[in-house]
Amino acid sequence: MTQLSFLALVLLACCFLYSKPSTGLEIQSFLRNAVDFDGSSTSGAEWSYGCTDSPNGPSHWGELSPEWSKCSQGGLQSPIDIKTYEAEDNAALGPLNFVYDNDPQYENASLVYDGHNVLVKRGGGSLVINGVNYSSIQVEVHSPSEHTFNGKHYPLELRVVHQSSAGDYASVTALLEYDKEDNVMFVQYFPFLKDLQQDKALHLPVMVWTPEYDNHHYYLYKGSLTTPPCSENVTWIVLKQIYTVSPQQVEVLTSFLKTPSNRPTQPLNGRKVFSYDDAFEATMSS
Ligand SMILES: *[C@@H]1O[C@H](CO)[C@@H](O)[C@H](O)[C@H]1NC(C)=O
Ligand SMILES: *[C@@H]1O[C@H](CO)[C@@H](O)[C@H](O)[C@H]1NC(C)=O
Ligand SMILES: *[C@@H]1O[C@H](CO)[C@@H](O)[C@H](O)[C@H]1NC(C)=O
Repeated sequence: MTQLSFLALVLLACCFLYSKPSTGLEIQSFLRNAVDFDGSSTSGAEWSYGCTDSPNGPSHWGELSPEWSKCSQGGLQSPIDIKTYEAEDNAALGPLNFVYDNDPQYENASLVYDGHNVLVKRGGGSLVINGVNYSSIQVEVHSPSEHTFNGKHYPLELRVVHQSSAGDYASVTALLEYDKEDNVMFVQYFPFLKDLQQDKALHLPVMVWTPEYDNHHYYLYKGSLTTPPCSENVTWIVLKQIYTVSPQQVEVLTSFLKTPSNRPTQPLNGRKVFSYDDAFEATMSS
């Protein structure tokens, strides 16, 4: 079999697999309003990850609602493929300046399934970039990863989304590779997925932010939300450190979601991806 016909087969299989279950889902979804990033209704349209070319799949998001036009007409869309060798070193960025508060008042987080993604909502964190204070609002997971490094997808992407008082976003995201050990962050809430119902927030007794982030090595670029309305007001921080997750944990998520939950990578359109490393800073000052 030629490579091309194999690719065609894979694509066909993909469309077949995703068009079948989505027929039922689409009818249900049709009756529901779409939920936006904050879980509030904005538009009667419904989108899916599905196949890129399915009627409400990623390549059509921009046509489904006037409010989502950025999804097809924007120039700063996310996710992107990060070509690590093309990123521009920028020592001025400095280490990430974040504080996550594990005070008991923040332990009561909630777990939400919005029909597309599993989200953990909890406050109690802040990230300061260029003097702007962004407060943490939620944690998201996507499988496979949305961002890629030199074209490579990882099994999972984990991110903490922050928002400033002006409404702009800052997302700190990490790519996760398989490992035998469970990821401790997910141990806190993946077991609750079996009880999770759409649009019914589930109380989580404990949700400790354990961002053992490597805040000294990251990429930064200007992009968008990776779901409609694809607003282009997100500062993206993609950690260079690859974290780990067990195949069993990824299976818990993917069997809950049933479809992949990643938007395809978007064109850079001349945007710069900056790179920050403490080692670079040390070299510069020596
Ligand atoms: C967490 O929620 C439970 C149940 O609603 C409540 O009893 C408890 O006081 C809450 N804890 C905190 C620290 O708010
Ligand atoms: C950022 O905002 C949070 C609460 O919104 C606050 O606790 C924190 O001190 C602020 N950080 C800075 C550096 O101003
Ligand atoms: C950023 O996008 C969100 C979602 O569309 C919007 O609510 C917010 O007002 C935007 N912020 C700015 C500064 O444009």
